[in-house]
Amino acid sequence: MAKSCAVILAAGEGKRMKSDRPKVMLNVLFKPMIQWVIDSVRNSGTEDICTVVGFKEEIIKDYLGEKFTTVSQRERLGTGHAVMQAKDFLADHAGGHVLVLCGDAPFMDSETIRVAYEKHISQGNAATIITACLDDPTGYGRVIRDGIAGPVQRIVEHKDATDEEKLVNEINSGAYWFDIDKLLPILDIEHLHNNNAQGEYYLPEVISIFIEKKYRVNAYLTENKEAVMGANDCLQLNDLSSKARRNILEKLLVNGVEMPCSEGVIIGPDVVIGSNVTILPGTILKGKTVVGHGCTVGPNSLLDDCTVGDNSKVNASQCYGSNIGNNVDIGPFAHIRNGCVVGDNVRIGDYVELKNSSIGNETKVAHLTYIGDSKFGSKVNVGCGCVTVNYNGQEKQGCVVGDNAFIGCNTNLIAPVTVGEGAYTAAGTTITQDVPAKALAIGRARAEIKENWTEKKKK
Ligand code: UD1
Ligand code: CA
Repeated sequence: MAKSCAVILAAGEGKRMKSDRPKVMLNVLFKPMIQWVIDSVRNSGTEDICTVVGFKEEIIKDYLGEKFTTVSQRERLGTGHAVMQAKDFLADHAGGHVLVLCGDAPFMDSETIRVAYEKHISQGNAATIITACLDDPTGYGRVIRDGIAGPVQRIVEHKDATDEEKLVNEINSGAYWFDIDKLLPILDIEHLHNNNAQGEYYLPEVISIFIEKKYRVNAYLTENKEAVMGANDCLQLNDLSSKARRNILEKLLVNGVEMPCSEGVIIGPDVVIGSNVTILPGTILKGKTVVGHGCTVGPNSLLDDCTVGDNSKVNASQCYGSNIGNNVDIGPFAHIRNGCVVGDNVRIGDYVELKNSSIGNETKVAHLTYIGDSKFGSKVNVGCGCVTVNYNGQEKQGCVVGDNAFIGCNTNLIAPVTVGEGAYTAAGTTITQDVPAKALAIGRARAEIKENWTEKKKK
């Protein structure tokens, strides 16, 4: 049997968002809507995806990358017309089934997609419409059945519906499974029409045509009412983020993550958190962040695309794109920038900035220090106010500091230099040449003492 595939409709502009990005690129809880949809499709077991793009398509193509199949819909002539653009992709999947869905309904979940597919196959359907019953169906296409609960007859758009049809609260989610061999022959403007309120080629017309042809059409009514939610303006977009945020926090709390107060805690959809973790107010965890067991994060901390080991603490600090080990104590007010690897039992104290550097196990960088593009070994003690001078105005260079070295307060390491294992730099020293292992480097102007200077100054 041919493998299933999916077509995501994402050519629309979303005027009311007043954004210069296409609607599907707007974020719901830090993640573009289209990525939510792609993740659901993939998690349901469908890998082969074609996205129909149009408005500002370069932005979506750039985001998806070259490996992703996209087709262009030059004019937005409706959802049916959008699917027509994917004809070649569908022909490549002849004999299989396609999931068509909207790129702007981020909560369509993998479970709903999977169960709908199972029904689609087991019932031998030519089309399976994913539907939901909403208290307020305004704006959605209504599912018109024969009688109250009889077979599906057609879908009528809100703008085309009679007052009586508008009372129907079963709506079209905009996601459907189709038998590709039955869909393909009618996917053109000879079969679909645009004589409707919006002058568009509607994809739901396929349903009426299938029924006319006596193909089997069924609806799969999902309990997940959120699956159909979209947003037309930024107010509704904020609503989606709030819903997603609440759902994620609830799941984490049920799984045993402690939050004495969830105010200001925002955790993205792809974050993984271990057991016995405490998250304090004002904490944002985003990207593919992983927090190990027994950690405390917050208050007021941000982890973006970071991995944190077990039993570590991040207090009032920001960390990006870095790996942080076990038993690490970070903050308050530390800034760990992209590309850092921090070992186990490390202390990164207040006003320390790390960038693209590695810090070995049991090293202490307790206060007011900048380490950039450098490699610090294990059991190094870095005093207060040390700087790796990594930029000479032209290029970035790094320093290497061996295990057990001692970098005295206010040391400047002018890159590139190496401080050998167990070596010391005296406080206030500027290092411009390599320091051999076990040596002491000291370079200080000796202070002159002027006795009774303040008394003399008064005169
Ligand atoms: C559509 C359905 C409606 C359903 C609703 C669910 C049609 C005619 N109506 O209505 O029954 O209840 O979704 O949300 O299908 N798009 C394109 N090209 C186009 C037009 C749209 O790619 O020419 C894309 C949009 O970017 C969007 C999706 O298709 O991602 C849905 O389009 P939209 O205009 O929002 O359809 P609705 O009016 O919401
Ligand atoms: Ca819509």
